[in-house]
Amino acid sequence: MYELETKKVIGLMSGTSCDSIDVGLCEVHPDLSCKLIAGINYKYPEHIRAKIFQIFRGESSVKDICQMNFAIGECFGNACMALISEYGKPDLISSHGQTVYHYPFNEKIDDISLKSTLQLGESSVIAEKTGCLVISNFREADIASGGDGAPLVCFADEKWFKPLKKNVLVQNIGGISNVTVVTKDNDTFGFDTGLGNIMIDYCMNKFFGMPYDKDGEIARQGTISHDWLNLLLQDEYYLKEPPKTTGREYFSNTYIENALKYAPEDKNSVITTATVLTAKTIVDAYERFVFPHVKIDEVIIGGGGAYNPEIMKYLRKFLPAEIELKTHEDYGISNNYKEVMAFALLGYCKYYNIPSNLPSCTGARKRVVLGKIT
Ligand SMILES: Nc1ncnc2c1ncn2[C@@H]1O[C@H](COP(=O)(O)OP(=O)(O)O)[C@@H](O)[C@H]1O
Ligand SMILES: [Mg+2]
Repeated sequence: MYELETKKVIGLMSGTSCDSIDVGLCEVHPDLSCKLIAGINYKYPEHIRAKIFQIFRGESSVKDICQMNFAIGECFGNACMALISEYGKPDLISSHGQTVYHYPFNEKIDDISLKSTLQLGESSVIAEKTGCLVISNFREADIASGGDGAPLVCFADEKWFKPLKKNVLVQNIGGISNVTVVTKDNDTFGFDTGLGNIMIDYCMNKFFGMPYDKDGEIARQGTISHDWLNLLLQDEYYLKEPPKTTGREYFSNTYIENALKYAPEDKNSVITTATVLTAKTIVDAYERFVFPHVKIDEVIIGGGGAYNPEIMKYLRKFLPAEIELKTHEDYGISNNYKEVMAFALLGYCKYYNIPSNLPSCTGARKRVVLGKIT
């Protein structure tokens, strides 16, 4: 066993929102704490991003997917070089990749499991472009050991928030939303609560030609359609017991288009209601699956949704008054780079052969070392 040392790690992440490749230079310490030194939200070239959304829509051939694996690898490599040119080479690069498909279902053919996940961004291309050791493909080992391959950030949440000695809910609001329940005395657990920004972004694009509802401006101008909201709240995902994970395969364009058949006519109100849906499903998940078991002191929000004041406003409204609502920034962690930091930590763990899945979050049979080395 090696003596653990502090390492400079570049974390690379592009989430379900596909809004940017988030790249962050981090220092990961032997106590598994992590400090962000610098970060960039590196934009995908426009046509590459369009191709990724084509994959999301299921309109791509095997040829497209094959090509995009290498093309995304090149984009990830370029994103790294933007940091390396300023700060020099890290000890290692830890790349989550771009999820294009995640299939956490226990389906079988001839007794062979179909549970699977696919992140694109060829690590050999990143390694060649940067001259660095690259660690990637974190989700596979968890799935191979019977887990759902997600959520993986729970490990980082436990390491970083357990020392608070409080009962907290660490809530990420990306394209999809996921929570980690970190408590003083109990085992950590976590799950995906459901929609994050996917539906808001989709509707902003469709009705306003904009990628997202900046600062909740549009949501603020509409009114809540309670009929539509109540209909959307009945989706079976929200009732399913954790551990559970979801993605664009379930909350797909088809899901959203079906939902929009019952939407209010006023476009602002569509955005308002989609925004309220995100906040409401998060708090409903706590009421169903967390509050009956543990008394919570604080909810700590991260991810892009933390920058939407309307989501934050409705979270405050739905949460019991005695629970504090904070963001990661209150603890000196960037809302924007939190997941990058988490994957930098997972890369560090692979480097030192430390298991980094939490079976209570992913449903895996055992703790395993995540990631592959290039
Ligand atoms: N200033 C802002 N106002 C409103 N929404 C925002 C803001 N900044 C980011 N977002 C939302 O956050 C999303 C990106 O969140 P992110 O955590 O990167 O998700 P993912 O991990 O799925 O990529 C954007 O698509 C947008 O919906
Ligand atoms: Mg993102």
